[in-house]
Amino acid sequence: MSHHIVDFADLSYVYPDDNKAVENINIRIHHGESVGIVGANGAGKSTLLKLLVGLLKPARGEVRLGDIPVTPKTLSLIRQRIGFTFQDPEDQLFNTTVYDDVAFGPRNYGLEEKEVEKRVLRALQTVGIEHLLQRVPYKLSGGEKRAVAIATVLSLEPDVLAMDEPSAALDPKSRRRLIRLLQGFEHTKIVATHDLDMVLELCNRTIVLKEGKVRFDGLTREVMTNAKLLDECGLEQPLSLQGCLVCGVK
Ligand SMILES: Nc1ncnc2c1ncn2[C@@H]1O[C@H](COP(=O)(O)OP(=O)(O)O)[C@@H](O)[C@H]1O
Ligand SMILES: [Mg+2]
Repeated sequence: MSHHIVDFADLSYVYPDDNKAVENINIRIHHGESVGIVGANGAGKSTLLKLLVGLLKPARGEVRLGDIPVTPKTLSLIRQRIGFTFQDPEDQLFNTTVYDDVAFGPRNYGLEEKEVEKRVLRALQTVGIEHLLQRVPYKLSGGEKRAVAIATVLSLEPDVLAMDEPSAALDPKSRRRLIRLLQGFEHTKIVATHDLDMVLELCNRTIVLKEGKVRFDGLTREVMTNAKLLDECGLEQPLSLQGCLVCGVK
């Protein structure tokens, strides 16, 4: 399914204050891949995802979804195909009910109300929050908001899920539920995160960014066992690989 290939080609972005946030990025992600994007604070993870969904315009290079370059003209199509969740779910929720927030995308793309309803219910069920249907989004807990934010993109039935720090601020049960949910999403997943344990469970491939450049792109199990490389990039091995904190046995 070549039309689902995500290509970052010679991509650079400089913020207006001359901050080179990402530089010379070349990454190709095939359909169905599950890719973790990791790196210390400020490494460029969020910038990369924002370039992917056209929230920022590259200084050089381009992003393509299959043959479609991400440009202002193609944005509507791109956002239908790539479901993006912000680091802060509040950036995603602005309607007065959970239902309307999750229905917003499908309605916006002109689907009939019957189809919209089907998709909303399916998306809410997938993230396990049907019971929140009529609630006011901004009054929900952090984990509930995160679940609604994910449902708002699932209702678009995207080919690619791109998520910025999806497990941040989740309690252990909500985090576990999120991991299971993402494991069940059979299309492409691109997850920018500090949660290396989640990457280890979820992603075969990991891209490590350091100061806006790709420092490693390869198998997750290879990079997660390379403590030296992780340390150089301001990261720590996943807890699950650090051995028992009580008895010291690996
Ligand atoms: N709005 C902005 N204006 C200027 N610099 C920014 C802005 N947002 C991010 N940056 C800078 O760009 C670099 C990459 O940031 P970001 O993509 O947010 O990294 P990460 O998500 O990995 O923490 C950092 O040096 C950060 O300070
Ligand atoms: Mg970030």
